[in-house]
Amino acid sequence: MVLSDDVTRFVRATGPEHTDVQERMDEFASEHHFPNIGPDAGAVLCMVARMTDAEAVFEFGSGFGYSASWFLRGGADRVVLTEFDADELERGEEFLSEAGLADRCSFEHCDAMDAIDRYDGPFDAVLIDHEKERYADAFEAVAPKLAEGGVVIADNVMYGPIDFDAVLAHLEGEDGAIDADDEESRGIAEYLDTVCNADGFETVVLPVGSGLAVTTKVD
Ligand SMILES: C[S@@+](CC[C@H](N)C(=O)[O-])C[C@H]1O[C@@H](n2cnc3c(N)ncnc32)[C@H](O)[C@@H]1O
Repeated sequence: MVLSDDVTRFVRATGPEHTDVQERMDEFASEHHFPNIGPDAGAVLCMVARMTDAEAVFEFGSGFGYSASWFLRGGADRVVLTEFDADELERGEEFLSEAGLADRCSFEHCDAMDAIDRYDGPFDAVLIDHEKERYADAFEAVAPKLAEGGVVIADNVMYGPIDFDAVLAHLEGEDGAIDADDEESRGIAEYLDTVCNADGFETVVLPVGSGLAVTTKVD
């Protein structure tokens, strides 16, 4: 299941256009069947960077820099990109250099879960977009490093490699709704259980792109 074409067209018709470099990044993603966050969700990252007046952003899973380009476009002073595929990260550095944005980036070629341990924060915005079964661990690792009013955005909470109906049934209280071997849906369900019940945080899911869980630190 995905958002209807009409809804997607509506969101895209009102959202910001790609820059030239973002357009090439998006074409590159299509050619390589790479699941970037897409322009609709990208515009939300841009908006969050603006609304938090972001000084520091951390990404779990950066691919070749498309999502980071949106945070930077929203004025983020610094973005930490993490990616364990060296070729993707190198291509990301090239794209962001072409856009004149690379000097505001730290490129970490490693497991994102190791990288977060090396940063103290505070982070104003965070993107979780790596292995779904590690989303909850990523939130636990970054939550103490969030600035007051900081925002954590998790991608693919509704669509992508996710069984939408099974996750919805889980959220509505049905025991055993998700297949035992469906690790990605289980990871998303665990993540949503974690953030929705976290003290001092508020979460709203936006049906944009592949579904974004937006969690704000409120005290
Ligand atoms: C969905 S893609 C990220 C897309 C990117 N955020 C964007 O919108 O352009 C997920 C990426 O996370 C990387 N990845 C997965 N697990 C990771 C981990 N534990 N540490 C670092 N990178 C990871 C994958 O290699 C892949 O490139």
